[in-house]
Amino acid sequence: MSPSEYTPTRRPRHTPPALRPTLPEWAVVSPERLDHIERVAELTSAWAEQLGVPDPERHRWLRAVWLHDAMRDAPLEDLEKWASDTPGPPELRHGPASAARARAEGATDRGVLDAVRYHSLGLAEWDMVGRVLYCADYLEPGRPFDQEHRAALAERFPTDPADVLREVARARLLHIIQSGWPVLEPTHRFWNSLVGTGAGSQ
Ligand SMILES: [Fe+2]
Ligand SMILES: [Fe+2]
Repeated sequence: MSPSEYTPTRRPRHTPPALRPTLPEWAVVSPERLDHIERVAELTSAWAEQLGVPDPERHRWLRAVWLHDAMRDAPLEDLEKWASDTPGPPELRHGPASAARARAEGATDRGVLDAVRYHSLGLAEWDMVGRVLYCADYLEPGRPFDQEHRAALAERFPTDPADVLREVARARLLHIIQSGWPVLEPTHRFWNSLVGTGAGSQ
């Protein structure tokens, strides 16, 4: 669907308490995008519960979830304004733009901002927020491909997050390579950080 075929909503729906916070009021997302973000929030919340994560940390995970695609359907001028140092298509700009916007609105949590900024690329220095968002964004059940395998990984995440993260990164990297796209530097470093880069690094 092209951006001109729907009217992006600025109105967050009612968000159940377990999935809060919610979309920032400056978000520009299509109804389908909001469905995706809600599914990512549901999966993240379920993992937090299974892992027994304390409330403040769960809150950081969910803040990143609600921010990560908040500018995914924003007009190109807005993406250029908020991510002026990130060239390329909207798919690569919306994370940096959302992070910059959140920061301008007063967000200061480095882990949350890095999770949002790099959610399309990966980042070697991520804390758990970035890792959870990267996995939940890919493993949420609404994506049409590879459903069985992704559901199995989603179920395994709470017992083996490091291995599931590596599997998700592998699948996403393979997709980049099979599509003939360049592997950007943060992605390359992220992958190496997950698998080790030489003798003795395991
Ligand atoms: Fe995204
Ligand atoms: Fe997403």
